[in-house]
Amino acid sequence: MVYTQLAEEAIKAKLKAHPPYSNFHVGAALLTENNKLYLGANIENSSYSLTICAERTAVFNAYLEGERKFKAMAIASDAPDFCPPCGACRQVISDLCGNIDVIMVNHKKEIKVLKLSDLLPFAFGDENLR
Ligand code: THU
Repeated sequence: MVYTQLAEEAIKAKLKAHPPYSNFHVGAALLTENNKLYLGANIENSSYSLTICAERTAVFNAYLEGERKFKAMAIASDAPDFCPPCGACRQVISDLCGNIDVIMVNHKKEIKVLKLSDLLPFAFGDENLR
């Protein structure tokens, strides 16, 4: 799957967001090494800090299905700027998906691609627990 297609999937996933407090809709599309697709969207909570981001929803969906190897994740919002993953999501993606490509999509459907290690250099990981 080419990254413009993955970006389209993230845009579609955005429709499933539940952000009644921020009204900021985010969609994520995670591509496995075997070209399977897992979607995520942000789901907010009246106890605001319990909100979960689109990226983590996608990663946990994939893990539930037993997926462990990934190639790329696309992230879309309605904002004019590219929507980068928050710090918590960078840690989760790094730890559970590895150094994948992160494709950010803006409202004009332009894309920007960065390696996760560029977004989160010198990351903490399971090797630090040994
Ligand atoms: N959000 C995401 O889903 N992903 C990000 O990378 C940034 C922020 C969500 C969390 C919250 O529901 C809303 O966007 C505003 O912060």
